[in-house]
Amino acid sequence: MLNCNRKKNVGIDAIAFSTSRYFLSLKTLAEHRNVDYRKYYEGIGQEKMAVFPPNEDIVTIAIDAAQKVLAKIENKNEIDLLIFATESSFDLSKSAGIYVHHFLGLKPSCRVFDIKQACYSATAALQMAKNFVENNSGSKALVIGSDIVKYSPNTSGEPTQGGAAVAILVSENPRLAYIEPFSGVYTADVADFWRPAAANEAMFDGRLSAHNYLRSLEYALDGYLEQSSLNLEDIDYTCFHAPFNKMAIKAARQFFSERDIKDALVYNALIGNSCSASLYISLISLIDNCKTDLAKKRIGMYSYGSGSVAEYYSLVISDQYKSVVLSEENRQNLANRIEVSFDEYEKLGTTTESFNYIGGENAIACYKNIGSVFLAEVKDGYRRYEEV
Ligand code: CAA
Repeated sequence: MLNCNRKKNVGIDAIAFSTSRYFLSLKTLAEHRNVDYRKYYEGIGQEKMAVFPPNEDIVTIAIDAAQKVLAKIENKNEIDLLIFATESSFDLSKSAGIYVHHFLGLKPSCRVFDIKQACYSATAALQMAKNFVENNSGSKALVIGSDIVKYSPNTSGEPTQGGAAVAILVSENPRLAYIEPFSGVYTADVADFWRPAAANEAMFDGRLSAHNYLRSLEYALDGYLEQSSLNLEDIDYTCFHAPFNKMAIKAARQFFSERDIKDALVYNALIGNSCSASLYISLISLIDNCKTDLAKKRIGMYSYGSGSVAEYYSLVISDQYKSVVLSEENRQNLANRIEVSFDEYEKLGTTTESFNYIGGENAIACYKNIGSVFLAEVKDGYRRYEEV
């Protein structure tokens, strides 16, 4: 039955992303792995991947993304909830969100916590934030999805590494998109992807994960269509979680037009997998690159987190969405990144420094930060950040 219990007009008021200032070209990776680069470019649909210097982590890029969103509102004291979604946690106790809360200068009465369920977690956070705002008139919530994805060298996952953070402000009367009240969820215990607590890199069964991604889409989409009483034709565009672009293209082919997801995949091809942030980077990419006016268009959103939970839900784009987008800034930031050599990639990719790093002035001198906060030191396992 259609759940039309629409309490309030709640959704995404503003959204922004941030990624590393550094990238590795997949042509360079292909050359050193003796692989035809077309396998990466055409076979998996990726061209570059974000590579992170030791003074940058899921917190610093999250702060950068969130600061862009906060610049779009007048009163940050209206934010009563901050949920930090990640599968790249470095601390099993303290929430990464608390560092973000501190550097954003949010009020002490703002509730903060982290959540985890692989790449699905930001969607869970967004739905929770939506419910929170619906039930607390005048409140706003900030959802962060931030991940750095690392696989071991010479694995099939290596060319799909990457990382980014998204910050999503949830409010009543959203300027960007309304979140519709129906969704299809599908949960199944599958051993396709995991990262033991002490490991830096994810373990995975690539083929099983790709299979389960598509299978879960079928169930989640069925649930969505049943709940909403909509047809596939009622959905104008779909954004997909994109662990690599070809995965999203295969998913689109199953139910939708492949043509309609092209604009949503532009940024992902340049960043790589960003797990919890990935679906929302697809949304930003669609908004920034689509030539059609998206006002009033329904955007299907497919979220998948290995392990596994999948959800299909939808947004309706607001009339004034162009007043909050950062299209030119996003394009410039991606265009102005710095390419690293293969040697540097190996040094950054395999180093354990990022877990025991004491950077200080050297960190600033060697590597440029993307934002205003950098990781200065890790002492006794505790992370200390500083403003540039
Ligand atoms: N020119 C053009 N295309 C080429 C080529 C060439 N020279 N050589 C190969 N290809 C094509 C292949 O034909 C294939 O295309 P199709 O899939 O259309 O058949 C494509 O390149 C990939 O080739 P393989 O299947 O041989 O690639 P692989 O086995 O090396 O890697 C993968 C694929 C296993 C999915 C790997 O990317 C991987 O392990 N990734 C990590 C796990 C992952 O991302 N899973 C996705 C679902 S899980 C999820 O979504 C959560 C998450 O974020 C991790």
